[in-house]
Amino acid sequence: MEQLVITGQKKLFGEVPISGAKNAVVAIIPAAIMANGISIIENLPCIEDVTCLVNTIKALGAECQFLDDNKLKIDSTNIKSYIATDDSVKKIRASYYLMGALLGRFKRAEVAMPGGCNFGSRPIDLHLKGFEAMGAQVKQEYGIVKLYAEKLRGAHIYLDQASVGATINIMLAAVYAEGSTIIENAAKEPHIVDTANFLNMLGAKVKGAGTDVIKIKGVKELRGAEYMIIPDQIEAGTYMIAAAAAGGDVTVKNIIPKHMDSLSAKLDEIGCIIEEGDDFIRVISTGSFRSANVKTMAYPGFPTDLQPQMTALLCIADGTSTLTENVWENRFQYVNELRRLGCSLTVEGRAAIIKGVSQLSGAEVNATDLRAGAALIVAGLCAKGVTRIGNVKYIDRGYEKIEYKLKAIGADIKRVIKE
Ligand code: EPZ
Repeated sequence: MEQLVITGQKKLFGEVPISGAKNAVVAIIPAAIMANGISIIENLPCIEDVTCLVNTIKALGAECQFLDDNKLKIDSTNIKSYIATDDSVKKIRASYYLMGALLGRFKRAEVAMPGGCNFGSRPIDLHLKGFEAMGAQVKQEYGIVKLYAEKLRGAHIYLDQASVGATINIMLAAVYAEGSTIIENAAKEPHIVDTANFLNMLGAKVKGAGTDVIKIKGVKELRGAEYMIIPDQIEAGTYMIAAAAAGGDVTVKNIIPKHMDSLSAKLDEIGCIIEEGDDFIRVISTGSFRSANVKTMAYPGFPTDLQPQMTALLCIADGTSTLTENVWENRFQYVNELRRLGCSLTVEGRAAIIKGVSQLSGAEVNATDLRAGAALIVAGLCAKGVTRIGNVKYIDRGYEKIEYKLKAIGADIKRVIKE
């Protein structure tokens, strides 16, 4: 089993190049198979979720070729199958985008229920309600979602919750519906805008992405296109939090600073110095900082995907902080692992009450999911002594070359095989 081994208490100095956004690319690859032609996707993050999705679309008949580690050519001309039920589909949550993509292109889809991080129940009822509103019949049996539509027609859909996945999935299917579809109460995350921009490059007619009303005018065909994925807001935020927690002077580059506003404001509030440029943010920290109260919200609020990392940072703040998780019903499963490193926090309902301690100490811990793994890295960077983190496979799902990027700014971290 692989472990990341960190010897903590090293301040961090230097630059971190940020990769393409995981939550954009996992929607854009399924979107690409809706086109009758060749797409070239650049700034692709080299992460497990991408590998998984590429294997899935190859099984559907797409021809895929990595032109380099971060550049992928997809020829979806000869895709014939609308059945995605192999094991790779069940590994990640974003497989559900194949429902909208295949239903749109073939008017039918059979997709295994998705996997992904376990934060309690992760229903897809809003996705399916949207497909039904466009005229699809939905059947779920043997762990497979089966969709069929004589034809897809535009609909006026109001999402009960501003769901990222439902917004994107309905947008995908609506591209090939007859007439126009309106999605109200749509999610506004940067990766939704990126997916809409890519669809429009393919020839779709999507307007309003990034606002809470998205309008999609159905088209007959999509052609391939060349596209560059936006930088990863959550990867960038993870390194910003690591710099704040460990102390030092770190610049995250190749980013869109606007996407980081809620985190930059919070780091400024606790006493870090934040400098912003066109495509970078610099974080200067002494390694000690004030406590704070944080609430996760849909974009542009504080991202739930930075919640575990922020919790780890607040564990060594001066005073007591609270972190309220408003998006997921149970996203504090990593708390016990933080306690093993000396953190003092309790969870009451949706809120973590975090009592800052002066010193963490290294221990053997296990990532419970992708961002929880990132939180353990943040804590390990600050802890006295050695921290060993297991279940590295979760971390590799969403972070490209994480130990190399951290080593480059002075962290003492290595990947080892534990017998
Ligand atoms: C996406 O998940 C991200 N994953 C998650 O990031 C992220 O935490 C989440 O959006 C919120 O920003 C990907 O993009 C692949 P939602 P998604 O639909 O689409 C409820 C990471 O670490 N809901 O916005 O699954 C749901 O239970 C991952 O990169 C329904 O009730 O999230 C949750 O409470 C983890 N019914 C809320 O909406 C539905 O049909 C938000 O979920 C869909 C969602």
